[in-house]
Amino acid sequence: MSQIKCIGILTSGGDAPGMNAAIRAVTRAAIYNGFEVKGIYRGYKGLITGEISPFKTQNVSNIIQQGGTILKTARCQEFKTPEGRKIAHDTLVKEGIDALVVIGGDGTLTGARIFASEYNYPIVGLPGTIDNDLYGTDTTIGYDTALNTIMEAVDKIRDTATSHERLFFIEVMGRDAGFLALNGAIATGAEAAIIPEISTEVDQLEELIKNGFRKSKNSSIVLVAESPITGGAMHLAERVQKEYPQYDVRVTILGHIQRGGSPTAHDRILASRMGSAAIDALLEDQRNVMIGIRNNEIEYVPFNKAIKNDKPIDRELLNTLRRLSI
Ligand code: F6P
Repeated sequence: MSQIKCIGILTSGGDAPGMNAAIRAVTRAAIYNGFEVKGIYRGYKGLITGEISPFKTQNVSNIIQQGGTILKTARCQEFKTPEGRKIAHDTLVKEGIDALVVIGGDGTLTGARIFASEYNYPIVGLPGTIDNDLYGTDTTIGYDTALNTIMEAVDKIRDTATSHERLFFIEVMGRDAGFLALNGAIATGAEAAIIPEISTEVDQLEELIKNGFRKSKNSSIVLVAESPITGGAMHLAERVQKEYPQYDVRVTILGHIQRGGSPTAHDRILASRMGSAAIDALLEDQRNVMIGIRNNEIEYVPFNKAIKNDKPIDRELLNTLRRLSI
């Protein structure tokens, strides 16, 4: 621990609202504890190209409310190769950066895990992704904001669905996880959510149709998690339209609108607590851990667990949605 003088911060993978709040928290908590801080631009790519600047407290002023990431982000192919990681390590040595805090999702933490073990280098990760698909934390930075964006968009679409008596399939992000779709459906009073976690168990669409999901209603909204497993909203809509030509079916794919915008209070507080905890972790000589918050308690989650363990969907939420959408 005593060797750490300078901490580097980077954001990598898809941007998520609250990443800036996390950058601010890491920077300020590090300076508060007497460390030097350097900002690394464009994720792991910045370690290869050497795009790095010293960060003072004023570098992170007035950013807590901004979406995106002031450090920019990228998905870096070169860092996936041993040669790329060697250049990255040389850069860290040259810049005098003794430890890293990386903010991102599954891919970011996977890169961190490999690099940390190859070079015996101290890294702490923060879960920054709208997908909420990392094990060991109740929510990830950006998830709550994306959920609220989905809620606002679906509320608007419902006006049209009701007025025209239409059946809408609305596709939301989440990579291979259904958290946004399931909780988005509960929050908007949607008739159903089609999610990858249970797609292998039942034909969810078939079940919906069999249960007569339009019987008692003139309009319906179904949230579909993007994923090759669900087949996506377009595919499901085509299936229904073919079988039920009498339905007026429409599709909306929400897309990248879900990744932008000012973070909610929940995400700002989560990012602030996690960023501050990342510095505590380094002070406690922790390495190769992701900061998680479960049941309101900070936890250090080994990278391996965060990435490899499945984060299960809560069945109680599924039952709630089913019960309330009759
Ligand atoms: O991981 C965040 C995420 O928004 C996923 O939900 C989505 O599948 C993916 O990133 C989209 O990535 P890109 O912005 O590179 O198209």
